[in-house]
Amino acid sequence: MRRIYLDNAATSFPKPDAVYDAIDRYNRQVGASERGNYASGTQATAAVRGCRSRLARLFGIESQADRLIFTHNGTDSLNIALHGLLAAGDHVVTSALEHNSVVRPLHELKLRHGVETTVVDADATGRVDPAVFARALRPSTKLVVLVHASNVTGAVLPIAEVGEIARRAGVLFLVDAAQTAGQLPINLGDLPVDVLACPGHKGLLGPLGTGVLYVGPDASERMASFRQGGTGTESEDEMQPAALPYKYESGNNNVPGIAGLEAGAAWLLERDIASVHQHEKQLVERLLSGLAGLAGVRLYGPAAGADRVGVVSLTIDGFDPHELAGILNQSFGIEVRAGLHCAPGAHRSIGTFESGGTLRISTGPFTTADEIDATLDALRQIAGST
Ligand SMILES: Cc1ncc(COP(=O)(O)O)c(C=O)c1O
Repeated sequence: MRRIYLDNAATSFPKPDAVYDAIDRYNRQVGASERGNYASGTQATAAVRGCRSRLARLFGIESQADRLIFTHNGTDSLNIALHGLLAAGDHVVTSALEHNSVVRPLHELKLRHGVETTVVDADATGRVDPAVFARALRPSTKLVVLVHASNVTGAVLPIAEVGEIARRAGVLFLVDAAQTAGQLPINLGDLPVDVLACPGHKGLLGPLGTGVLYVGPDASERMASFRQGGTGTESEDEMQPAALPYKYESGNNNVPGIAGLEAGAAWLLERDIASVHQHEKQLVERLLSGLAGLAGVRLYGPAAGADRVGVVSLTIDGFDPHELAGILNQSFGIEVRAGLHCAPGAHRSIGTFESGGTLRISTGPFTTADEIDATLDALRQIAGST
């Protein structure tokens, strides 16, 4: 039985060969940590600098590479931002579609410091109305947080409109780009986004254990450093350096991972993110049209043709989503995710919370039409067996 991996929303697989090669080369031939005053140490420093500058090109901020901070994953990036930006007395506006990597830090901040949160509802197709964000702002609002695309429905959310609303009100805007970085073109030079958090291991095609945080000029003024430690700079001073990236980046980086992430970014720059998006959009449309009208199959999220990333959520009447994922795995070799996908609010919005969530199929740049057809065939067999 061949393996068909369709859980790219969790982490992308496979990665470009160049990613594996870069990690292997780093581990076998360099192996040193950054800042060492010898040849391999210099190579390590150059690898980290090289990755930062490629990512800066990818995000349209070539001259501001030091505003990109390396982290462990998307969750780490979001925690650094949320805990660094919010304090007692602050108010936040966010959406019902957020991942627990936003929901739980905000809950913790409420328990620790009384930070208040207003949650903007999504409609039954998982869309939010920017006007509701405007109405939710208060004099004490310090931050608006919005996921760029839902990891449950795949719907792309209106970050430019919501960002404008925040900017006009003098409120910082944090975007969770976990499902869009590397999948949709994102130009931070143009967008009204102050902070952007993303994993390095999903659409950016780096290995697990990598993450990125963009901290814009207004945000770095106001965002406290979340963790402190060695930076190899100003070592005589007990105070964490104010310069970027060191204000938010301490200790040894995951340099082998960053070397892999650089290769992922290079692959995306060469291939062009718009063409990767086009490829995945075609696969999603193929999946949606193959499922349309199939008895017992329910699809969630935006209709075919809408702006979305490579994520499709569905249920089949008579099956628990986990049972469905188990059958796909055991009988067909298809690896997909089932359940709430760490985003309970999204399931409350689309009406799948009480019934155990959805089955989520998510594509990557190397997913083929043939794999989608095999998945459609399996789902037809399962739906027809009830
Ligand atoms: C929307 C969203 N935000 C945040 C995260 C967290 O990213 P990571 O798994 O890299 O911590 C995910 C990943 O599942 C996600 O889908």
